[in-house]
Amino acid sequence: MKIIKREQLKQKPALDNTLGFGKYFTDYMFTMKYTKEAGWHDAKIQPNEPVQFDLATTIFHYAQGIFEGMKAFLQPDGTISVFRPEENWARMNRSADRMCIPQFPTDVVQEGLDELLKLEKDWIPSAPGTALYIRPTIVATRVMLGVHASTEYLFFIILSPVGSYYAHGLEPTRLLVEDFYVRSSIGGTGEAKCLGNYAASMKAGEEAEKKGFDQVLWLDAQEKKYIEEVGSMNMFFVIDGEVVTPALVGSILPGITRKSCIQVLKDKGIPVSERRISIDEVVEAAEKGTLEEAFGTGTAAVISPVGLIQYRGKDYEICGGKMGKITQMLYETITGIQYGKTADPYGWRKIVK
Ligand code: COI
Repeated sequence: MKIIKREQLKQKPALDNTLGFGKYFTDYMFTMKYTKEAGWHDAKIQPNEPVQFDLATTIFHYAQGIFEGMKAFLQPDGTISVFRPEENWARMNRSADRMCIPQFPTDVVQEGLDELLKLEKDWIPSAPGTALYIRPTIVATRVMLGVHASTEYLFFIILSPVGSYYAHGLEPTRLLVEDFYVRSSIGGTGEAKCLGNYAASMKAGEEAEKKGFDQVLWLDAQEKKYIEEVGSMNMFFVIDGEVVTPALVGSILPGITRKSCIQVLKDKGIPVSERRISIDEVVEAAEKGTLEEAFGTGTAAVISPVGLIQYRGKDYEICGGKMGKITQMLYETITGIQYGKTADPYGWRKIVK
């Protein structure tokens, strides 16, 4: 892999729990270009510096772009591991298909990521709860205002040392059930990790934050009845001993942490089902006292307990506003594998060589 070195390295921030999320970026990035004539080409590692684009570039107007979120962890023996990267590449190519972006070669980007991580090893924080966040992205780079799929693209990977996604760390989050705005509908782009999904969620997110909530819990677009996801997390509820998560009906992001949790739960013999779950069922369980736990899963959010949901002006506290036992077990199992503190029976830890 071609590496263009920079003359001066950046000053690193304190690599501890004061990092927050996505505020600092490392010295280098991986880039690769696409043109109709040459296909994907020119894969290289170069200094992470501002890049110039013409203001008529497709990405600025029609948001033809996709991204992924992954994390690299420093292992006790000093090696670097990444959690299930092949799953992210596969999902990214599915998102690409939805957004008319050409399929990319996963072996080339994996090699680019490995080289980039080796070069940036000193940026990987080692404090508990920290990691090096990996943001692979593809943007449409053709200069053209017609509403058509671009014929040129840029694939890039930037890296950011991070602490917790939420400012209050692992403290249970407060969610507002949104029954006006919708995130996605079946046939829309909800199961693709495309840029516009996140832009479209910001209005409801801002309104929820103003009311003191961390995030919005989305309902389905058709009936405003069934739980979808949180936007940065998939949702799980523990009701009367059964773990329930919304089925992947086409409007929800197929999360990799979600899939991993389902596998762990099945292997531990804990009843888990992927099905439609209505907000009425959740509220009824909360009223009856059978809503035992709720949590969200995601790369950035890891496993985040949910301590309260508000629906139609009424607050429902969950698990006494504390982290429940199943949430704790999943947090420890997933982070144990990620940080190399436990065995990896599933082969989810990819060591960078
Ligand atoms: C992630 O968990 O990696 C995400 O992409 C969610 C969010 C930060 C946008």
